[in-house]
Amino acid sequence: MDIRLEQLSMRFDNITAVDNITTTIKNGELVSLLGPSGCGKSTTLMLLSGLYKPTGGEIYFEDKRVTQLDAEKRGIGMVFQSYALYPHLSVLKNIMFPLKMQKIAKAEAKSRAMEMAKLVKIDHLADRKPAQLSGGQQQRVAIARALVKNPKLLLLDEPLSNLDARLRLKMREEIRRIQQEIGITAVFVTHDQEEALSISDRVMLMSQGKLQQDSTPQDMYRLPGNVFAASFLGNPPINFLDLTKEKAGTYTVKGTNQQVKFGEENIKSYDALKIGLRPEHLEAVEEKAFIGGEVIHIETIGRDTLIRVQQGDVTVRALIDPKIDLQVGDTCNLAIEEKQIHFFDPATNERIGGGAPYDGKVNLEEYI
Ligand SMILES: Nc1ncnc2c1ncn2[C@@H]1O[C@H](COP(=O)(O)OP(=O)(O)OP(=O)(O)O)[C@@H](O)[C@H]1O
Ligand SMILES: [Mg+2]
Repeated sequence: MDIRLEQLSMRFDNITAVDNITTTIKNGELVSLLGPSGCGKSTTLMLLSGLYKPTGGEIYFEDKRVTQLDAEKRGIGMVFQSYALYPHLSVLKNIMFPLKMQKIAKAEAKSRAMEMAKLVKIDHLADRKPAQLSGGQQQRVAIARALVKNPKLLLLDEPLSNLDARLRLKMREEIRRIQQEIGITAVFVTHDQEEALSISDRVMLMSQGKLQQDSTPQDMYRLPGNVFAASFLGNPPINFLDLTKEKAGTYTVKGTNQQVKFGEENIKSYDALKIGLRPEHLEAVEEKAFIGGEVIHIETIGRDTLIRVQQGDVTVRALIDPKIDLQVGDTCNLAIEEKQIHFFDPATNERIGGGAPYDGKVNLEEYI
């Protein structure tokens, strides 16, 4: 089902939890709502569900305006962080429950619930009570129960936050499999960038109720639209440097005496720039390079070595080849290809240039 949000807003007293969001979600897409705590993700989901009615704007399902339509008439399934299963009912009866509420005949309800139990791979546990299941199994029951009425839209609010790290990984793959198997349109709320980037067709990044960027995971990482998007994604986080113009194409890095040069045309009119350098795009080299200084910290993360290099008041994090022999106190030069540099206007924090489109070569999941 295609969904359209038009200038959607939700105010609570003096807080604007959702601020003028316009976007479309295409039939069969899995879209993540990503952002820090309190940015309005759950409120947006509640507006989609109909449990909240917006204070401004409209929601369309296909071409039908549903803004004021009650939740039970919207044909949606919901899954929450707390699985909210009925403890006294068996797994099968939990899944059957929404059908019982619809007064669907018992035999049919049972066979549809069993079909869902098979889809989420808990049919062998159908007679157990929720307390006899692991967290991941309970979440599967909650997903089956949300899907049993054949909804057109599946809404998931941080469904994996109660699971341990390994199980989270497995269950997010399961959610993607189930979503694709039945081809349902889904909106998935998370504050975990890795979760959002790994399972979604598209990510809607929010901050303070506003939509910051709405793009594929690859584009969000490769071409962040503003300073917030650049800083929210990436682990270890992106480095920001503030620059002041010396002459056309030549800048000084604030807090250092380092001069840097660019060929990028779009930045020519700016007297001040903010640039973003991803740690994995910096390379330790022998000769003088983009920036250099004293190594003040070294640690191993995964297959890479993370170093911090200081020049003047500025520190830069870089992920370098572990074969390079460096000690704290050494001097290190860091090079970067200009096309990997992200340029922002410090006055607006908006992107003004740089960044390389996704070339399919770098495995995104290594750096989130
Ligand atoms: N029923 C409510 N009444 C008043 N304020 C609310 C209500 N629900 C949410 N808010 C406020 O709206 C803002 C957005 O809340 P929301 O729950 O949507 O954030 P979130 O992105 O889901 O955060 P989290 O990641 O912590 O779950 C917050 O400032 C919150 O305090
Ligand atoms: Mg929330």
